[in-house]
Amino acid sequence: MIIREAKDYNNMSRIGANIVSAQVILKKDSVLGLATGNTPIGVYKQLIKWNAKKDVDFSSVKTFNLDEYIGLSKENKNSYYSFMWSVFFKHINIERDNVYIPDGMAENISDECLSYESKIKQFGGIDLQVLGIGRNGHIGFNEPSDCFKRDTHAIDLTPSTVEANLSFFENAAKMPKSAITMGMGSIMRAKKILLLCSGKEKADVLNQAILGDIDPLIPASILQLHSDVTVVADAAALQIYKGNSK
Ligand code: GLP
Repeated sequence: MIIREAKDYNNMSRIGANIVSAQVILKKDSVLGLATGNTPIGVYKQLIKWNAKKDVDFSSVKTFNLDEYIGLSKENKNSYYSFMWSVFFKHINIERDNVYIPDGMAENISDECLSYESKIKQFGGIDLQVLGIGRNGHIGFNEPSDCFKRDTHAIDLTPSTVEANLSFFENAAKMPKSAITMGMGSIMRAKKILLLCSGKEKADVLNQAILGDIDPLIPASILQLHSDVTVVADAAALQIYKGNSK
């Protein structure tokens, strides 16, 4: 695992965007795994700028998002579909047909999970998976649990995740309490992983994920078993890790 310290959020975003663009420059038909949340927004903004300057070209890139709320339509402003299009996709030269996001309105959620997983395989797997980390150590929506779930599946969100994401919704009743997420196998099969992390409120969980036991109660800890993970985190997020790794 490579740990790369960034000065602050902007610097983390620039380094992250460099890693994503290097991937796309080296392999123009890369399959990218993408994340939502506040953390990767700066990376997306930087990539939009480089795409406008034609320094990075997304015309042959395929993307798979990590997760989607169950019960929110694509048009709903809080769906991850809306988030990804408004924050990133509509600003770059990606083909609409090359964007994959789980369908939270699918009639049969189990079938949707199976077909999502098989689409990833059909394209040869993910070349570079971008991840954020939840306050409780979740990646995608793989919540702390007694086991690591392998493939794309439906999950119930924990109270801590509901609380963390509630501010995006008008009220608690409007926030879905379940989601579809890629599983740990889906993520771990990616050839490379980029974990982004910013802010002191993530310092403790990031330290546990990197230095602690590999434990499904800290889902991101499984990344220690992957052979090509780069963590790009700002100084605040690395505070506890740096104290413990001396
Ligand atoms: C959500 C997403 C995760 C994301 C996490 C952290 O739960 N499903 O993929 O990593 O939020 O979000 P943030 O980056 O806003 O802290």
